[in-house]
Amino acid sequence: MALKLEHVSYVYGADTELAVRALDDICLEIPEGQFIGLIGHTGSGKSTLVQHLNGLIEPTEGTITYCGRNIWEKDFPKKELRSQVGLVFQYPEHQLFEVDVFSDVCFGPKNLGLPKEEIQERAKRALELVGIPEEYYKQSPFELSGGQKRRVAIAGVLAMQPKILVLDEPTAGLDPRGRDEILSQVAHLKKETGISVVLVSHSMEDVANYVERIVVMNQGRILYDDTPSAVFGHVKELEEVGLAAPQVTYILHRLKENGFDVDVKATTIDEARDTILKAMREEREC
Ligand SMILES: Nc1ncnc2c1ncn2[C@@H]1O[C@H](COP(=O)(O)OP(=O)(O)OP(=O)(O)O)[C@@H](O)[C@H]1O
Ligand SMILES: [Mg+2]
Repeated sequence: MALKLEHVSYVYGADTELAVRALDDICLEIPEGQFIGLIGHTGSGKSTLVQHLNGLIEPTEGTITYCGRNIWEKDFPKKELRSQVGLVFQYPEHQLFEVDVFSDVCFGPKNLGLPKEEIQERAKRALELVGIPEEYYKQSPFELSGGQKRRVAIAGVLAMQPKILVLDEPTAGLDPRGRDEILSQVAHLKKETGISVVLVSHSMEDVANYVERIVVMNQGRILYDDTPSAVFGHVKELEEVGLAAPQVTYILHRLKENGFDVDVKATTIDEARDTILKAMREEREC
């Protein structure tokens, strides 16, 4: 099922004076069932990259394969690819347009030409996965809160039953509550369905708590592609490219400098709490 990018580059406005090399020699594999965070400063190429994943943009150089087939070869079924690699754009609520929540989520599967019962079943399941209860089904999507609207938009893509879900900055513009709501629902649906999730963000805090792999982009290139703790080990280099490690990383480094035997590799608040408590216990025992 893997989606694979090999030496992919992309130039906006190629052959013009305003040419911008937005992606430069990207090699990336998205296997089954992985939760990946894609991080980078503004303009680093994240959105350009994710639009390559479902064939919206054709690479200027390099190849993209899905299940071993080049997605740009002549007879490749693009429509199938678009339903298997579900892309949720930044501010997806701008794309909600149906009269009620349920009809909006039904839109995608309806386009696939599925029977009515299956369309409705898929829509229900998708709304369940993003935590939107039945009493909202007949409401206008425009009456919902920012976080709820976004969850409905995500449900619309989930109803296509993708194998890979790509979310471009799903928390942008939301308040902390809306942000936590979205992230915990995404983590929940990842656990429930086992699909691969690519979460684009420029917040280390957002991804540190959820993903198992982090891809860091800088100026169109991949700077790191590793586990969160390995990536956050490069605190100085991350700062040089305008990214900060999560707050817990800074706290743990400071404690270590002050003689506490904590594990600086902890990246989530829970892990940090455990290593701090352990160090305190050991200190007391001495
Ligand atoms: N339609 C376009 N035409 C020309 N240049 C573009 C276009 N879209 C993006 N770019 C340029 O390509 C580069 C990568 O942009 P991209 O939007 O992929 O970055 P990003 O990491 O998603 O940024 P952000 O965090 O702000 O969303 C930037 O230099 C940007 O100015
Ligand atoms: Mg972007």
